[in-house]
This record gives sequence, C-alpha cells and structure tokens, in this order.
Amino acid sequence: MSASHGMAALMISILFLSLICDITTNPCKLDVKVEQVIHNEGFHRNITYRIVFTEDYEDRWSYRDCVLGLEQTLPAGVYTNPDELGDLRRINRLNAIPKNRINVELPTEQSEPNVVYIMDNVRDSQVYMWLPVHARYHQAVPGGSMARNEIGAPKLYLRCPDQRLDLCKKAVASSMTFLCNGSSKEKCIWKSIPFTMMTDMIVWDVPVGNTDDYYIVAGGTSIVIIVGSLYLLKIIHEYKVRPKQKLQ
Ligand SMILES: *[C@@H]1O[C@H](CO)[C@@H](O)[C@H](O)[C@H]1NC(C)=O
Ligand SMILES: *[C@@H]1O[C@H](CO)[C@@H](O)[C@H](O)[C@H]1NC(C)=O
Repeated sequence: MSASHGMAALMISILFLSLICDITTNPCKLDVKVEQVIHNEGFHRNITYRIVFTEDYEDRWSYRDCVLGLEQTLPAGVYTNPDELGDLRRINRLNAIPKNRINVELPTEQSEPNVVYIMDNVRDSQVYMWLPVHARYHQAVPGGSMARNEIGAPKLYLRCPDQRLDLCKKAVASSMTFLCNGSSKEKCIWKSIPFTMMTDMIVWDVPVGNTDDYYIVAGGTSIVIIVGSLYLLKIIHEYKVRPKQKLQ
C-alpha cells in the first residue's frame, strides 16, 4: 500500500517537474499565421488580413483578451485616405489610422512610402482585418506603360492587459511605442510578435498614362477650339452686318 502511494507521489513529482521544465524552456509558442490578400480591380482596392493564433489549449493564455496591432508599410504608389479611415473609425467599422500625414492628391513621383496601423481585439483565436487602399497616378510617359506596386508583409504587435508577454522573451523580440488605437491620441507599448506568412507578396500593376495620347488629345482640343472660334466670329460678323441691312 505504501509502495503504491510512493509510486503515485513519484509520478506526480515527475509530471510536475516536466511541466515546470516545459514552462521554463518553452514558455510560450506564439504560433501565428497570416494571410494577406488584395481584392477588387482598378485603382481602389481592399486588402484583407486573416491572422490565426494557435488553438493549442496550453498556449491560448498568451493572446487571450489582447489587442492586435498590425503595421502595414505601403509603397509610394499606394495610399490610404485619412478621411475615409476617420469615417470608418467613427462608425466603428475599422480601427485604422495612418502614421503620418498623407496628401491624397500627389502623383507617385512626389510621394513617399507610408505606414498605416490597424488595431483590433483578438477574438477566439483569430483576427480579421481589412484596409481600403488606393493607387496613385503616375506621371505620363511616351508610349504609356505599367507601374508595379509591391506591398510587403505587415508587422504584428500584441498589447495585453497585463505583463504576460514578459514570459515570452524568446518569441517576443522587441517593443514599440505607438498609438493605442485610432480613436485616441494616447500611446501604448506594443510587443512585436513573430508570425508566418501564408500568402505571397501582393503585386499590383497600374497603367501609366501615355504622353502621346496627351498630344493627340491636346491637338484635338486645339482644332475644336479654333473651328469653334471661327464659327463664333462668323456668327458675330453676320449679327453685326444684319441690323445695317434692315435699316437700309
Ligand atoms: C473589404 O473586405 C472586407 C472583408 O471582406 C469587407 O468587410 C469590407 O467591407 C471591404 N471593404 C471595401 C471598401 O470593399
Ligand atoms: C482607445 O484607447 C483609449 C486609451 O487606451 C481607450 O480609452 C479607448 O477605449 C480605446 N478605444 C477603442 C475604440 O478601442
């Protein structure tokens, strides 16, 4: 009887020790997978993100009740419209905000790459995000062409209501300070988390205007203006001439 008790105690100790070892050697597996897809056609499109955390029961604590911050760098040829994002924030459809001021009217040649943040709570073990994006025009070139915009992978950050991510020193490399969310000027500390991209880089080709077309259009416009002016001159001339004829 005492022998079996001894055995049970030993088994429990071994289990307990292995659990402790497990926690210390591999405290948290932040196994995160990201799908990034662009939708629609033309100059106005929609990027969606599907972010999936591990569903392993022992690892759920590492992201439960946390907020996910996604940082997307857009090339100079692509922008987000701050007014549009502001409207979407106000109706609680999307919490996204550009990092810097954006001039939506400039052509690509006069623009810089820009950064936008999207924030959302981690629900269950997934987060769906989206971002309305627009292509900038390029200055026209002879013969016209296509311009390529390449949109790389985002960066991911987590912000939890406690210090739990301090246990994840191996997985969580660094911290960043940026806005807590789009609706507040307050800044928060975010932990950068590793992830695996499940999709290829987004490639978005846009047509570039043709300066040859410009000359054709300009030439056509000039002809219309000249012919129209001559016609008007003729009418004015006839008008001036007519009353005299009546008087005679
Ligand atoms: C972008 O896609 C998401 C997810 O399908 C959708 O909820 C959202 O309304 C779309 N936005 C636009 C501007 O099409
Ligand atoms: C935004 O962040 C502020 C400051 O942390 C918080 O009070 C507010 O509830 C947050 N709003 C949303 C929509 O998450």
